[in-house]
Amino acid sequence: MSNVDILISENIRGAAVDALSERFRVSFEPDLWKDPEKLAEKVKSCRALIVRNQTPVTASLIDTAQNLHVIGRAGVGLDNVDYKHAEKAGIVVSFTPDQNAISVAEIVMGMMLSLARFIAVADADTKKGNWNRQRYVGTELYGKTLGIVGAGKTGFLTACRAKAFGMKVLAYDPFLSRDNILLSELQAELVELDELLAQADVLSCHLPATPQTVGLLNHERFARMKQGAFFINTSRGKVVVEADLVEALKSGKLAGAALDVRGKEPPQTGELEAMPNVILTPHIAAFTREAQTRVTMAVCEDVGRVLDGRPAVNAVRRTTPARRVSS
Ligand code: MLT
Repeated sequence: MSNVDILISENIRGAAVDALSERFRVSFEPDLWKDPEKLAEKVKSCRALIVRNQTPVTASLIDTAQNLHVIGRAGVGLDNVDYKHAEKAGIVVSFTPDQNAISVAEIVMGMMLSLARFIAVADADTKKGNWNRQRYVGTELYGKTLGIVGAGKTGFLTACRAKAFGMKVLAYDPFLSRDNILLSELQAELVELDELLAQADVLSCHLPATPQTVGLLNHERFARMKQGAFFINTSRGKVVVEADLVEALKSGKLAGAALDVRGKEPPQTGELEAMPNVILTPHIAAFTREAQTRVTMAVCEDVGRVLDGRPAVNAVRRTTPARRVSS
């Protein structure tokens, strides 16, 4: 019998974790994700594993975890969790859709404003002692078209905020119908990807990394975009072919880009890092106190529920484990 019920393999902390620790034996190992062998050893006897986006929860790790009932993903992206394999193994995967969507939408607006008004680059330049007013004549967002690729919760909340800036919103999402009530309320038009590419002054990606989306934003798609458009990605780095983005920026096809996520994280320093019209942040779109409190609370509540023998609220597929819940 293990002396740990719940293993936390990344930096996930707060009141909700403390509350869970009062009822279960919790092992908090924020750096464990870096050591897959140690992780596999530790997970063997646990009943629950809580991760963020860095722990590779692979099929082989799941097979090792013979006592596992629930995997809690503190976040929305599931690309690091083989949830289909977990389901086959009878394990519940719980995640936290929507909990960080406001924070992501807010950083997208920040990036949009910074690209359009040179905020980041003018700041760095001015701090060097320069006073280059004419170099930083920007553009207004008002009256421009925002193209949302992936109109889930973060895409929708971004669209709401863009509307408040007087932007027109187009959305591409193969899973939504033209009479989607939320988009209709916003007067955001659902269009095909090619139309969105051709019309967007700012394109913002809100896509999960799936076989259908990986590499979606490539040379061909950048070529179809408006001359001088801005490109923003706060979703998953793998949906963009970075070399093609670099080329689109170098040729002037795109006027600027803001990336919170990268194909490989952390990335190697390359051409993007040297471009003044590119804003780079280290996958922090969801990192606000409010969002992290909500995310941690939601994931801890669901893990506690499953270990108590109750159904998970935010299960990716099954709500209760196929395995008998042991104590
Ligand atoms: C998410 O998927 O929720 C965000 O990208 C943040 C994260 O991965 O932890």
